[in-house]
Amino acid sequence: MDFLTSNTHLHITTWAVAVILFLVAVTKPSKGVHMALRLFYVLILISGLLLFIQYNSVDPMMYGLKMLGGILTIGLMEMTLVRKKKGKGTGGVLIGAIVLLLITIYLGFDLPVGF
Ligand code: HEM
Repeated sequence: MDFLTSNTHLHITTWAVAVILFLVAVTKPSKGVHMALRLFYVLILISGLLLFIQYNSVDPMMYGLKMLGGILTIGLMEMTLVRKKKGKGTGGVLIGAIVLLLITIYLGFDLPVGF
């Protein structure tokens, strides 16, 4: 599985596509886009987990925080869309999702592998 963890391209592709799908789903709710986004959650988790297993021992605390940030970002993105579908307010969870997304991207680029 070396080709999946020797660089971060797969992981970056999965979350970049997910962010685009999330923006589309927030501005123009659609079942299909939401379903595609859920598939990308799984791909983010798989690609992130593979990187985590490979490099975690370099700096367990920061890698742990990076994983936690990624999982919470996905959780808040999903909560935003579900609350929107139910017609509930999304202000808080949407802001939370954006803040967590920025923190996770910062942590990711700050860690040693990849860019
Ligand atoms: C929306 C969710 C996520 C975003 C936006 C995100 C973003 C990023 C970014 C920007 C990088 C740096 C890539 C590079 O330096 O080339 C990265 C690397 C990484 N991510 Fe994620 N990620 C997310 C979810 C996850 C999850 C769920 C996990 C773990 C299960 C994870 C684990 C990792 C690991 C281990 C790395 C390698 C860190 C390093 O460069 O040394 N990520 N991620």
